[in-house]
Amino acid sequence: MSVRIGDIAPDFEQESTEGKIRFHEWAGGSWVVLFSHPKNFTPVCTTELGAVAKLKSEFDKRGVKVIGLSVDELGNHDKWAADIEETQGAKLNFPLIADTDRSVSDKYDMIHPNASDTLTVRSVFIIDPNKKVRLTLTYPAATGRNFEEILRTIDSLQLTDKYSVATPADWEQGEDVIIAPSVSDEAAKEKFPNGWKTLKPYLRVTEQPGK
Ligand code: BEZ
Repeated sequence: MSVRIGDIAPDFEQESTEGKIRFHEWAGGSWVVLFSHPKNFTPVCTTELGAVAKLKSEFDKRGVKVIGLSVDELGNHDKWAADIEETQGAKLNFPLIADTDRSVSDKYDMIHPNASDTLTVRSVFIIDPNKKVRLTLTYPAATGRNFEEILRTIDSLQLTDKYSVATPADWEQGEDVIIAPSVSDEAAKEKFPNGWKTLKPYLRVTEQPGK
């Protein structure tokens, strides 16, 4: 079964490098990034886990917990963590789920049999503090993900939850945003007292609120 935007993220219990994880309990009231990687001791995965470890403080700043998953065994995860530290210059600082029975991978539809029967694809789920799935991404095995982009989407989600705005293509924190189409010009006068530019009646641009 696939997990879609707006669904409640399936709960699970599974072993990890930081002990048994009861997912919903572990997530608590935080945002979560849950991401899978196909296999331990593979080159792209090694660089990805190093990249996430280096960005840990950026995830912390946004109130986001990060958790990785592969179908490999726990002992194997520990040995690989040493390789990640040696080659990427960053120590693993978040849990890695050892999904040996594939129960989590199945719940989250992380195995795409026409790509591989045994390995997970590179899935990403961003989950909000109400356990709702807010973003899903699927990358193929040979393409490493851009985790700065994951941070950017979290910035957009957190901003658009707070204000009646949407973020345009390639938006970065601090740049102008779009007034949500559901907001009338009348209501916009109150919400955006500094004004906005109307490029088209459906495309109104204003400075990022709360920056
Ligand atoms: C990698 O992480 O390098 C990788 C994993 C599975 C297939 C291809 C590449």
